[in-house]
Amino acid sequence: MRLVDAFGRVATDLRLSLTDRCNLRCTYCMPAEGLPWIPRAELLTAAELARLARIAVTRLGVRSIRLTGGEPTLRPDLIEIVAQLAALRPRPELSLTTNGLRLRGMAEGLRAAGLDRVNVSLDTLDPQRFRRISRRDGLADVLAGLDAAAAAGLHPVKVNAVLVRGVNEDEAVSLLRFCLRCCYELRFIEQMPLDPHGAWNRAGMVTAAEIRSALSEHHRLVPMPGRGSAPAESFLVDDGPARVGLIAAVTAPFCQACDRVRLTADGQIRNCLFARVETDLRTPLRAGEADEDLATRWVMAVHAKKAGHGIDDPAFVAPQRPMSAIGG
Ligand code: 5AD
Ligand code: SF4
Repeated sequence: MRLVDAFGRVATDLRLSLTDRCNLRCTYCMPAEGLPWIPRAELLTAAELARLARIAVTRLGVRSIRLTGGEPTLRPDLIEIVAQLAALRPRPELSLTTNGLRLRGMAEGLRAAGLDRVNVSLDTLDPQRFRRISRRDGLADVLAGLDAAAAAGLHPVKVNAVLVRGVNEDEAVSLLRFCLRCCYELRFIEQMPLDPHGAWNRAGMVTAAEIRSALSEHHRLVPMPGRGSAPAESFLVDDGPARVGLIAAVTAPFCQACDRVRLTADGQIRNCLFARVETDLRTPLRAGEADEDLATRWVMAVHAKKAGHGIDDPAFVAPQRPMSAIGG
């Protein structure tokens, strides 16, 4: 079986959210006071995660697994989860999306357990702005975490940046220079309507086109061919080998090439970041359902995937869960 939808897209990339909790409170993601967290008893255990991942890899054609959150490094059993996923055959490619705060102490262990790569979120190089965006201090820890990831061989180390109008919109060039110097691969992500208060508006969003033109004032950007299902449009910077990516999730959606499927920390399949319907795997899993039947539920969940996220549709309604409970 494969995870094919009605439009012929095949999901081979699984995003596993390990927790909805986070040690930051980024304004575009969470309210200052946090959110009503998923009760612990509803979180999938490491063994349950490993079982579902095994079904995905051995029966459903999933080839890569990205661990997300909230903040996945808050899971005390993260290393064990990575090791179990690395032991699957065929072995999936394993990556982690993290805010980097805890990475300094964990990078080596994650690498040893079998993690291949990391994506670290970094929106600013200014400590005050870091606090304004994430409502916590921590820039120095994130930078140390990036350094540790590179030293541990979690290559290529990717950096995700969201530019917020009136806060860090002028940092495109400085972030790129920093990443060029450190050999990190930088990608800018357009801010999507996934904030908790529904305050997002299109006019406030810093667009990929705007970022490209800001970067082009100081660097030569040449578009790279062969994007495939990658959400980022990639550019060679100053004749390479360095690259920079622009993820125009809103202004140039890549839904038609999407190869992802998501599993929330409480065991719900989401066939899209913006889905409004979820498929519960936790309940049948805990009721002792066979692998084959869980796989069938999964296939049906993906089959129902819509053509696109429809942010531009006047009838667009944001998903009930905020970003932190879906996983990036
Ligand atoms: N729009 C775009 N990116 C977002 N992220 C979190 N919320 C949003 C949003 N509303 C990013 C984080 C992180 C990744 C998981 O998703 O900055 O890099
Ligand atoms: Fe935490 Fe990431 Fe959300 Fe920031 S964007 S609050 S780091 S989950």
